Amino acid sequence: MQCAVIVVAAGRGSRTGGAVPKQYRVIGGESVLRRTLRLFAEHPGIDAVQVVIHPDDKDLFAQAGAGLPKLLAPIAGGADRQGSVKAGLDALARRAPDLVLVHDAARPFASPELVARAIAAAAEHGAAVPGVAVTDTVKLVDETGMVVETPERARLRAVQTPQAFRYWPLRMAHAKAHAAGAAGLTDDAAVMEWAGHKVAVFEGEADNLKLTHPADMARAERALRPPLNDVRTGTGFDVHAFGPGDHVMLGGIAIPFERGLDGHSDADVGLHALTDAVLGALCDGDIGAHFPPSDPQWKGATSDRFLAFAAERVRARGGIIAHLDLTLICEAPKVGPHRDAIRARIAEIVGMPLDRISVKATTTERLGFTGRREGIAAMASATVRLPEEDPQ
Ligand code: CTP
Ligand code: MG
Repeated sequence: MQCAVIVVAAGRGSRTGGAVPKQYRVIGGESVLRRTLRLFAEHPGIDAVQVVIHPDDKDLFAQAGAGLPKLLAPIAGGADRQGSVKAGLDALARRAPDLVLVHDAARPFASPELVARAIAAAAEHGAAVPGVAVTDTVKLVDETGMVVETPERARLRAVQTPQAFRYWPLRMAHAKAHAAGAAGLTDDAAVMEWAGHKVAVFEGEADNLKLTHPADMARAERALRPPLNDVRTGTGFDVHAFGPGDHVMLGGIAIPFERGLDGHSDADVGLHALTDAVLGALCDGDIGAHFPPSDPQWKGATSDRFLAFAAERVRARGGIIAHLDLTLICEAPKVGPHRDAIRARIAEIVGMPLDRISVKATTTERLGFTGRREGIAAMASATVRLPEEDPQ
């Protein structure tokens, strides 16, 4: 049996908003439409893929479909979904497949198993739609919002696409509905019901989301993001000696003090320890390897750029910094009054929420070089989460 699929992609995605219609938005590194088209192009039960697009979207479509097998030349859709499906059915007239599936471009998460079930159900019943049992109680309301009826929940199904049909009956039903001016039929089952056909329901999929509102796009992004299961901890340590000056840089904040800190850069021990902690979690050398003190370009540099660099290395690997913990060790200056300002500055540098950044301070009870007020030490730890790589 020959089986074609019509993918309707001519809508404007007005409820989702955005610079391009939702089916051309990129999620998880691929446009929604391309993900949908791959499902069918790679499916052994599908012989041809007829995409219905908006005439303004020719270039976007060329990109989305590039290199995929089984794609027929796209055709222009109608003013509503029903019109777009009809255009797709008419375009398939010469090919006249035995079966046709109709699928929303905006449903990129349908599985190959669902497609196989759709094909089998169409062969058996002539008209079939995927449905899932509803968990909410559904009410029928009137124009004023008053409940008219509560249908029995056990008999309700929320239906999805791909809907599956024998080609000719569906084409005839659409032609008849069009000729009769029967509009507002929001799915193809409704067109078949209108024309007096029986429609079966087969098992749909909870994950077969139709991207409709902005929150759906965000959810789809989350679903496609690889899990950040490679969790690492890095540590960092740094010391700078006091020298002449009237302030010290600590955690990106200038704190007035009777001394300064000696160093090639701004000598911010806190940011240096944090930078090494992040680089340590990445197994990516240390601050000196990336910003050699022998290189004159880092003379007097503000240390926020070192930490921002390390944070960018994490992002470049598709990861996040989950937590930073910094301990500043000195007798003076007092860190407490500046703690919140330091946390806020670090959050700004690395682009992290404040509640994932900890700053602590301690003395060494007048023992050692910090106790003798010869300098400041800092230690830090960073928890970094990276996408899990395939085991070698
Ligand atoms: N569709 C179509 N032609 C239309 C309207 C819709 O091909 N004239 C397609 C959409 O591209 C989508 C599917 O039908 O893949 C389901 O429609 P819907 O989710 O309503 O998408 P849009 O119409 O694009 O969105 P909106 O209603 O928010 O504008
Ligand atoms: Mg619409």
